Amino acid sequence: MQIHKILQSQGFGSRRDCRALVRSGLVEVDGQVIDDPFAEFDADGFEFTVDGEPWEYREKAYLMLYKPTAHECTRKPEYYPSIFSLLPEQLAERGVQPVGRLDQDTTGLLLLSDDGQFIHTWSSGKKKIPKRYRVELKHAHTPELIDALLTGVQLHDEPEPICAAAIEVIDELHLWFTITEGKYHQVKRMIAAAGNRVEGLHRQSVGGLELPEVLEPGDWAWMTEKHFTALASFSGGDD
Ligand code: URA
Repeated sequence: MQIHKILQSQGFGSRRDCRALVRSGLVEVDGQVIDDPFAEFDADGFEFTVDGEPWEYREKAYLMLYKPTAHECTRKPEYYPSIFSLLPEQLAERGVQPVGRLDQDTTGLLLLSDDGQFIHTWSSGKKKIPKRYRVELKHAHTPELIDALLTGVQLHDEPEPICAAAIEVIDELHLWFTITEGKYHQVKRMIAAAGNRVEGLHRQSVGGLELPEVLEPGDWAWMTEKHFTALASFSGGDD
């Protein structure tokens, strides 16, 4: 593939921008400046640098972000910075989108991709993908609260009660809370419907994929084979 087309596919701008980028001498392959935008390379596994920054060709982008608090999961945020401010602009340019959304004050694992099928699969409620949250409650939990959440609470715009897939008590104000749907403000609304209030929410895992320990709030990383395997390994995830 011609190098300017490779650059365009990776989010470095329009074809014209990418031809100009190559001509400017900022693109190197194996330490050699490539200034011919039409130079041909095998895209598969192609590594290059732009202005000294290393990149690898990826047909599709799959990444994990440790979403910090006070960030909105939209491109045009209203009150807080966008999560896209935490990512290289090439990723937004190539159409990367979050797989579902977390509220501005929720922290933790957020997947992003420009693969529409991947986004659809992992954000749909159909696959019953477990999403595990650490919840901080306003009031100490009670057996009645946990019972109500496990047997199902009625949310006003839902036809049927929704239940937590699992709850584990951490201490009197903290729970691990697993849901398999992905409804708007689901955890907060379920806990409010059961008579308590969420004071803090952190997503620890999606499917079988845990938030990588190496990530700090605001950090992101490419997904590797090991992360895809982990993501798909959860009970009920084989069909
Ligand atoms: N449930 C919520 O209420 N908020 C989130 O950000 C995620 C799940």
